[in-house]
Amino acid sequence: MRMVESGDVRLAVFEEGDPADPAVLLLHGYPDTHRVWDEVAALLRDRFHVVRYDVRGAGASGAPANRRDYGFDRLIGDLGAVLDALGLAKVHLVGHDWGSLQGWEALGRPEIRDRLASFTSLGGPGLRQAADFMRRGRRRDVAAQRIRSWYIGAFRLPVLPEAAWRSVLPAVVSAALRREGATPRPGHPADTLTRDGLNGLALYRGNMPGAALDPRVPDVPLQIIEATRDAYVTPALSAAVAEWAPRSWHRRIAAGHWAHRSRPEAVAEMVAEFVEHAEGGPAGRGLRRARARARGGFGGRLVVVTGAGSGIGRATARAFAAHGAEVVCADIDIDAAKQVSEEIAKDFRITAYGVRVDVANANQMEDFSRNIIAEYGVPDVVVNNAGIAVAGAFLDHTVDDWRRTLDVNLWGVVHGCRLFGAAMAERGEGGHIVNVASLAAFAPSRLLPAYSTSKAAVKMLSDCLRAELAGHGIGVSTICPGFVSTDIAGNATYAGGTGMREWAVRGLARRGYPPERVAAHILRAVHRNQAVVPVNFEGKIGYALSRISPGAMRGLARLSKLAGKDRPYGRR
Ligand SMILES: NC(=O)c1ccc[n+]([C@@H]2O[C@H](COP(=O)([O-])OP(=O)(O)OC[C@H]3O[C@@H](n4cnc5c(N)ncnc54)[C@H](O)[C@@H]3O)[C@@H](O)[C@H]2O)c1
Repeated sequence: MRMVESGDVRLAVFEEGDPADPAVLLLHGYPDTHRVWDEVAALLRDRFHVVRYDVRGAGASGAPANRRDYGFDRLIGDLGAVLDALGLAKVHLVGHDWGSLQGWEALGRPEIRDRLASFTSLGGPGLRQAADFMRRGRRRDVAAQRIRSWYIGAFRLPVLPEAAWRSVLPAVVSAALRREGATPRPGHPADTLTRDGLNGLALYRGNMPGAALDPRVPDVPLQIIEATRDAYVTPALSAAVAEWAPRSWHRRIAAGHWAHRSRPEAVAEMVAEFVEHAEGGPAGRGLRRARARARGGFGGRLVVVTGAGSGIGRATARAFAAHGAEVVCADIDIDAAKQVSEEIAKDFRITAYGVRVDVANANQMEDFSRNIIAEYGVPDVVVNNAGIAVAGAFLDHTVDDWRRTLDVNLWGVVHGCRLFGAAMAERGEGGHIVNVASLAAFAPSRLLPAYSTSKAAVKMLSDCLRAELAGHGIGVSTICPGFVSTDIAGNATYAGGTGMREWAVRGLARRGYPPERVAAHILRAVHRNQAVVPVNFEGKIGYALSRISPGAMRGLARLSKLAGKDRPYGRR
């Protein structure tokens, strides 16, 4: 530790590692001190010259005599003073919360920005860019961010925040960290949290709201780590702020606001990989995807679609590819899967892979998921779409009809969710699982007893899983289309209905609802993390009616007619 003078303030500066290595400066937020980076610094010091300091008014640093001296001019002056004192011409800056706000501000200041070799932003947007988002962002996104930013207004009130810091706030902050699985402020001499909390209020009073300054960002490599459970920064704000950067890498981590405390290994690895790349090293797969992700859409994502050889699966694989994702097209029909992946490669110049798998077969699904993860990485999105239909009266269904329907439609989804869900959770960068159910999930009928049962189970499975995986930053959506014009009726099995096949094939074709429209709903569901998405007219009406009047749905089920009916039960 050494003390560095910056105006009338003495800053406590801490160094670790070999000064010959690239310098990484870890800048803390509010109401933290340099010690919030303890674990990350310990993981980085063998490879980098790690520098930290307590910002003015915090930890072992002094506080300015004038409360107005917490403005960005002073804060950026402190950063420059530390770099000068340590003789650092260039530094890789990593900022969290207010430390990140300072980093963004430094990018806009000619006197310091040339000294930034790279910048990693965690849990804190640029104020200039955030102000622009608040003015011009989508109204719904802005409203969501305003709700999360409630405390900014509160901290700017007179007297009240001071009273809160002297009473409940220290305990509230510690509880917030514990809730995230992070240890509260590490071993600090006496209790300076209240003092630092009181001092730091001047940050909010002196620098907010973000002035209408130029939000443009210079060409400095910029990594944004988006914590999926950050209580203060919405994904929409992260994305909007990133758009200003000419060269950015966008990462996700399933964690709360203090990701560097709850998941230090993951944060340290992201910082190390990025700094090494900015120093001229090659980009690994994670970084390459982070770069593509920053270009928007589904760029840089890996998407697995089952049943991708035909209908809704094919349209979904194509739609993800059209938005920049790499796609794995899986199907029991390998020729169809290969054909779709080749079409995608040709039409969108995107990497796509055609793979054979029977989703009903547990062993095959285990091999499939293991191979995908080993060869292409953990998928960001999995669409469990493969499905079959058996139509006919319940008394005409054989045990095999039931078994095959449940094996493909339900067990196929269970396998997909289990295997890929576990890998996503372990990776810790979030993700999304889409399960394709059907209107049949909530609309009983005499036509599709096994099929409807399997789809109702898929919907319930998805709801349960959504609750469980939310904590990992993994969304789960159930898609419930009504009738869609695909080959499903032609591929279906008909229990006892002579003439049913032609009738069903003709009916579905006549409905004229293309699978591409279902695919668009699937992409939107992932983008917005929607829980249940009824698709098309009958899908939406059915969903609404099933909730308003389940009795009416049961009545309608009686009316559904079997083609060529009033004949004895029998097979096909
Ligand atoms: N078409 C509709 O009207 C409609 C309506 C609601 C829901 N859905 C659901 O949408 C999904 C896709 O259906 P579609 O209409 O595109 O049908 P489709 O028959 O056109 O395509 C289904 C694809 O799944 C593949 N498949 C079948 N069994 C498989 C298995 N065991 N392992 C791997 N792949 C397998 C098929 O080879 C085919 O390529 C299904 O889950 C279906 O239940 C369809």
